[in-house]
Amino acid sequence: MKVFHSGLLLLAAKTVTATLQIVPGATWTATNTGAHVQAHGAGIIKENNVYYMIGEDKTNGSPFQNINCYSSQDLVQWTYVGALLSQTSSGDLGPNRVVERPKVIYNSSTKKYVLYLHIDDSSYGEAKVGVATSDTVCGKYTYIRSFRPLGYQSRDLGLFQDDDGKGYLLTEDRENGLRIDALSSDYLNVTSATYLWSQSIEAPAILKKNGYYFMFGSHLTGWSPNDNVYSYATSLSGPWSSWTTFATTGSNTYSSQTNFILPFGSSAIYMGDRWVSTNLQRSTYVWLPLQISGTKVTMANYVNWVPNVSAGTWAAGPSETQPEAESATLSGGAVTLSCSGCSGGTAVGYIGGSSSGTVTFKGISSSASAMSTIRIKYENGNTSQRFGKVTVNSVTYNVAFLPTEDGNSPGSSVVHAQLNSGSSNTIVIAGLGDGTYGPDIDRVMVPSS
Ligand SMILES: *[C@@H]1O[C@H](CO)[C@@H](O)[C@H](O)[C@H]1NC(C)=O
Ligand SMILES: *[C@@H]1O[C@H](CO)[C@@H](O)[C@H](O)[C@H]1NC(C)=O
Ligand SMILES: *[C@@H]1O[C@H](CO)[C@@H](O)[C@H](O)[C@H]1NC(C)=O
Ligand SMILES: *[C@@H]1O[C@H](CO)[C@@H](O)[C@H](O)[C@H]1NC(C)=O
Repeated sequence: MKVFHSGLLLLAAKTVTATLQIVPGATWTATNTGAHVQAHGAGIIKENNVYYMIGEDKTNGSPFQNINCYSSQDLVQWTYVGALLSQTSSGDLGPNRVVERPKVIYNSSTKKYVLYLHIDDSSYGEAKVGVATSDTVCGKYTYIRSFRPLGYQSRDLGLFQDDDGKGYLLTEDRENGLRIDALSSDYLNVTSATYLWSQSIEAPAILKKNGYYFMFGSHLTGWSPNDNVYSYATSLSGPWSSWTTFATTGSNTYSSQTNFILPFGSSAIYMGDRWVSTNLQRSTYVWLPLQISGTKVTMANYVNWVPNVSAGTWAAGPSETQPEAESATLSGGAVTLSCSGCSGGTAVGYIGGSSSGTVTFKGISSSASAMSTIRIKYENGNTSQRFGKVTVNSVTYNVAFLPTEDGNSPGSSVVHAQLNSGSSNTIVIAGLGDGTYGPDIDRVMVPSS
């Protein structure tokens, strides 16, 4: 009887649901690089229950560096896999080139992954698409060529693969509008025009749901966000509805621009970029669940939310405690500093550095034993990332902290770690141990249920 009981308890402890959160606009540290995920303007392709996120590396600003691929099984913890394409000495992928909005679809007959890219010079005058292929989703791609689809300008692009296997290029043609073009059967060429909107819309992405095609996109305001819109139709060749906003009007799509719409359960996830044009590596990811009812699409804003990938469902973020760094235990060179935008007007600085400052939060309560997302509110006045080691219940994670620069509003960085049921969880934030400084810490936000 006793043995039976403890067996049950063990099982219960193991199956307690995780509360891994998507935190829009936060620093997302890759599991194996210790640095912010560099996959901007991305698309996602799913295979064997693994999501592959393919996007632009903006570590050194706008000019092309790499098209990166990261993988995840939960849409929250991302592992850097490799670069599909990297800068070459000359040509389309050479120095000072624009290579943006990578999107991949798979052709099951040719067994090739086909990658489309916006290819341009630094003044955006060429306005072409580039095509590359690979035998593996996240392996090296062979660059084939660039061209203007059907002779028209093409800047922001997307791809759509319909249920019947036909492929389509979504392309912004500055002179004429937004286009859907049909791809050849091997996906390597553009063969005919399917639809043209005369309105100026970029950042296109299509979702097919409940018999409708939904085209999402943004207005043309450069790197600055605007109220993104969608149009719907029962056929790709139209007629398409007029454009309508889906996020709160005036919110500029919660300060983001569409890059991809990921089908998810009975709905979909909006994936947007929050560009920081003055420091593009600092750009973050705004992912939010869409509500779709018939032809009506809406999107609410959340600080954090919890996707359940196996069920295709999601929940709002859990309740949490928010211990302040200035009330925690400081050691080494760590000191309290005034910080006007921080809660209580105070942060703890000199984390790391030559005198190994640390801040230790003890006695944190949680009612669940689960992998949980902890948000760290911090300041980093530098123009590049700072790094730290965050130890949660004796397990240490390398965590990045993007610049906050303005010195007023703390940023969020997330760490995913095991919390224990009870009131003895401990979080230690330290520097890397190499003499560099970590961020100033305002507080931590820890799930309590
Ligand atoms: C996801 O949902 C399923 C079905 O409701 C549930 O059994 C599972 O525990 C959930 N997983 C997580 C990680 O929450
Ligand atoms: C892939 O390419 C072949 C032609 O090479 C084509 O017949 C097929 O429809 C394409 N699509 C898929 C999904 O395999
Ligand atoms: C691509 O398709 C266009 C339009 O059908 C055609 O003119 C062109 O020759 C094709 N290019 C290649 C490389 O097949
Ligand atoms: C960050 O800024 C501080 C001064 O605020 C400076 O001492 C330090 O060298 C900078 N670190 C990096 C990595 O730029």
